Amino acid sequence: MYEILVIGSGGREHAIAWALAKDKRVATVYVAPGNGGTFTEPKVKNIPLHSFQELTDFARNRNIHLTIVGPEAPLSQGIVDKFNSENLPIFGPTKNAAQLESSKEFAKAFMQRHNIPTARYMVFTDPALAHEHVNKNVDIPIVIKADGLAAGKGVVIAQTLKEAHVTIDMMLIDGKMGSAGSKIIIEEFLQGEEVSFIVAVDGTNVLPLATSQDYKKLLDGDNGPNTGGMGAFSPAGKVFNEQLQNKVMANVISPTISGLKKEGIIYKGFLYAGLIIAEDSTPRVLEYNCRLGDPETQPILFRLKSSFLNLIEHGINQSLSLYDINWDSRCAISSVIAAQGYPGNPLTGTRITDIPPNQPGIHLFHAGTENKDGGLRVNGGRIICVTALGNDISHARAKVYDHLEKIDIPGSQFRKDIGLRMKQP
Ligand code: AMP
Ligand code: GLY
Repeated sequence: MYEILVIGSGGREHAIAWALAKDKRVATVYVAPGNGGTFTEPKVKNIPLHSFQELTDFARNRNIHLTIVGPEAPLSQGIVDKFNSENLPIFGPTKNAAQLESSKEFAKAFMQRHNIPTARYMVFTDPALAHEHVNKNVDIPIVIKADGLAAGKGVVIAQTLKEAHVTIDMMLIDGKMGSAGSKIIIEEFLQGEEVSFIVAVDGTNVLPLATSQDYKKLLDGDNGPNTGGMGAFSPAGKVFNEQLQNKVMANVISPTISGLKKEGIIYKGFLYAGLIIAEDSTPRVLEYNCRLGDPETQPILFRLKSSFLNLIEHGINQSLSLYDINWDSRCAISSVIAAQGYPGNPLTGTRITDIPPNQPGIHLFHAGTENKDGGLRVNGGRIICVTALGNDISHARAKVYDHLEKIDIPGSQFRKDIGLRMKQP
C-alpha cells in the first residue's frame, strides 16, 4: 500500500488529495500543510511541514511512494530540484522550467523566440519610460502586469489612460506588488473567450486533460478586480472543439515543450496554458502556469474516472503514452465562496458554523479554512469551492447553488453566474 505526499493547502490540493485517496492502492495521503477540509477525507491526513528539508526528510523516512506539488511558489523555489537531488519521486517542473510562470518576462521572450502566439508587449523597470509608452499607445484597454508571482492578482486591465498611469506608479514607484512588481509588462489587450488548457508532460509525451474555463473576475458579469479564480467548469464551452484543441497542441503546447528542450530544459509536470480564443478561432497564450489551475482542478478531477495516481505514476516514469485517460461525460461546475475583503485584504478568523455535508455528485473542497479554537474558521481569501456534476450546465449549476446558499459565513461573497457566460457545451 502506498503513502502519498501532496504539498499545498488550497482547494486544488484538497481535490488532488481526494482524487488520490480514491485509489485502492493508497493507504494514506499526507497533505502538507493541508486545510480545515483535507483531513476530513477518508485516508487523508494533514501534516504541518513547510521547509523543503522537512518535506524531503518526511518523504524519505515514511517511504513516500510519490509527491505532488500543487502551488507555484514551491515549484519556482526549486522543490522538484531538491527532491530530485535526493532521488525522491516527485511530479512537477524544476525551478528552471517553472520560470514559464514565475517570470512573465521570461515567458514572453520565450514565446517570441519560439513563435508561440501571444499579445505584443514591452517590459519596463523605469516608470518614466512606462508612462511615455502608455501616452504613445492609443489603444485602450491596455494590460499591465507585474513580472513576478502575485497569486493571479498582479494583472490590471486599465480601461483609461489615467488608470494605466496610476497602475504603473502603484507597481513601479509605490511597490504595492513587492518585488514581483519591480518590473512590469505592458501588453496589448486581447479580445475573445478565455480557456484553460492543461496538459500532463512526462519529459516527452504530452497528455491533454479535460478542458475547462475559469472565472477570473470577482463579480458577476466579469466585473470587478482579477482574483485567483472565482469558479470554473469542465468541459469548456463549444468554443473549444477538437479542431481547436489540435491547433493548440500544434501551435502552442508542442513548440513550448520542444522549445524548452532546445534550451536545455526538460519539462515534467502539469503545464497550463491560459488562452484567449479570438473570434476567428486563433488561440493566443495569455500566460503559462507550471501547475494545475485552482479552481479548474476541482471540476476537472471531479470528472476523471481513470486513476489519478496512475496518471502521476506514468508521468514520473515517462510512460504517459500508456495511460488510458477516461472522463465522465457529464459536466462539472465549481463556485468559490470567498472571504469579505477578498482579493484585497480578506477578513480571516470568521467562524464557519453551518456547512452542508457532501452528497453523491456534490463536494466541498476547502481552501482558506482551518480548525482552530474548537471549530472551523476562515484563514484565507478563497474559503470553500463547491463542486457538482450535472447532466448539463443548468443541472450542475442548480446543485452547486442550492448547496452554496446553505453555507453561512458572515460577509462572504460568491459569484452567481458561474456557467452562465459561456457558449454552453
Ligand atoms: P495572467 O495572470 O497573465 O493570466 O492574467 C490574469 C487575467 O487577466 C487573465 O486570465 C485574463 O483574464 C486577463 N488578461 C491578462 N492578459 C490579458 C490580455 N493581454 N488581454 C486580455 N486579458 C488579459
Ligand atoms: N485559476 C487560475 C489559476 O490557477 O492560475
